[in-house]
Amino acid sequence: MAEPFYITTAINYPNGRPHIGHAYEGIATDVVARFQRMMGRDVRFITGTDEHGLKMDQTARKMGRATIDLADEMSAYFREMADTLNLSYDDFVRTTEPRHHAASLELWRRMEAAGDLYLDRYEGWYSVRDEAFYDESELTEGEGGEKLSPQGTPVEWTAEETWFFRLSNYQDKLLALYRDNPGFIRPESRRNEVLRFVEAGLKDLSVSRTSFDWGVPVPNSPGHVMYVWVDALTTYMTGVGFPDADGEMFQRYWPANIHMIGKDIVRFHTVYWPAFLMSAGLPLPKQVFGHGFLLARGGEKMSKSAGNVVDPMDLAARFGVDPLRYFFMREIAFGQDGSYSAEAIVQRANGELGNAFGNLAQRTLGFIAKNLDGYLPVIRGHTEADTALFEAVDKAISKDIPEAFESLALQQGVEAWLQAVFACNAYIDSEAPWALRKTDPERMETVLATLYICIAQLAVAIAPVIPASSAKLLDTMGIAPDLRSYEGIRSHWYSPLAESDFRIVAPTPLFPRLELPAEESA
Ligand code: MF3
Repeated sequence: MAEPFYITTAINYPNGRPHIGHAYEGIATDVVARFQRMMGRDVRFITGTDEHGLKMDQTARKMGRATIDLADEMSAYFREMADTLNLSYDDFVRTTEPRHHAASLELWRRMEAAGDLYLDRYEGWYSVRDEAFYDESELTEGEGGEKLSPQGTPVEWTAEETWFFRLSNYQDKLLALYRDNPGFIRPESRRNEVLRFVEAGLKDLSVSRTSFDWGVPVPNSPGHVMYVWVDALTTYMTGVGFPDADGEMFQRYWPANIHMIGKDIVRFHTVYWPAFLMSAGLPLPKQVFGHGFLLARGGEKMSKSAGNVVDPMDLAARFGVDPLRYFFMREIAFGQDGSYSAEAIVQRANGELGNAFGNLAQRTLGFIAKNLDGYLPVIRGHTEADTALFEAVDKAISKDIPEAFESLALQQGVEAWLQAVFACNAYIDSEAPWALRKTDPERMETVLATLYICIAQLAVAIAPVIPASSAKLLDTMGIAPDLRSYEGIRSHWYSPLAESDFRIVAPTPLFPRLELPAEESA
């Protein structure tokens, strides 16, 4: 039976429409999910919306709307974005759903049964924007002398009766977790931040609120709703059938292999979340990966207040879904911050997808359609150049690309693919099949067959990143579905293609050339 693999995106606040950072995270998570499926794993991929908490409530109030109306409307946009970007999620969990309330209640019940919850009074700083409590020592001063969170968001003093979680009891257990599982927090730089935070000592955490009621009610405690992060994190288990902890789905997929999140919410996922799970007697996720931020050209973080929010749906409509997906994976070292500009997208899409890969496929398949009547070429002996190309492409597809994707070095995986594409381009130029048509048709056929095999392999290899374009190309080439995996497409390697009735018809360009509007190329 295939090995299970469970991956999640962060569960997004639907207090506004999705922005490009949400798109980036969804795409990266989808690339990994698709890659793991192609490696034969039984993948479950969950995304959703985090609809409770003060931020949602206040946003709706300011708009004069019922909070659930805002959640319904915006959550639908998140789902639409996921569909438009071709994210292969298996379930979309909304924290306002009954099944999720049931999951949150069960987590609470378990933590209470473990003796980790007690009622007391909380006084301290709270950032509504981050939905986070901060210690005085973590705050900085803004230009007007106002206090700011480490994320630069405003904080307010809160004082109320709340339930506390005995986080202080988990310091040693968490440090042991980080020590024994060096891969639990990635990348390395985030791990160091968390270590410093936990080593400095942990205070008990306020896990309920009484000043508003937009949340999951705390059992047997009128007036209290759960702190939004308690129920938010629980979404990862709702997505695999919790509270039915003995159920088939939970048993099969929990714990998650990877929680993919932004670097600003690493603390919640690597300190609070494992402590809650330890308390509840549940297995811990294997890895939390905190990716970087996308910066608009000029290096500013995208945010509504900075006025540089880019609607990912506009970008997808303008550049195409696959070029956008490719750009994100290609441009940014996964884990680090990166920047985006229309110019950079157009450059990558035209230069690498269009010219290097698209044209290679177009020329080769067009030539086969025209000169072999569309019949697939057959290898008729081979030269050193053929062998060298096969070896380069085979190394990319069997080693460099999968190893990089497996370890979340997504950019490196795409680079390895591109190197193999360049090798094919060098080969087609030096072997010049068009010149062989009259002089040596047998050799021409071998060259075309070599290219045909390599292009098929490269189309499969990059499928996690550009799934629709890859599928379209593989359909044009007549590659059977069962060959469309890293192992499957490899088995054809070197073997002359069987005679087949399949005929290639003149292909249409895979990646139409993108133009940059005048004002942006200045
Ligand atoms: N809603 C949070 C944010 O957008 C992320 C929550 S991730 C969760 O920053 F899993 F904890 F829900």
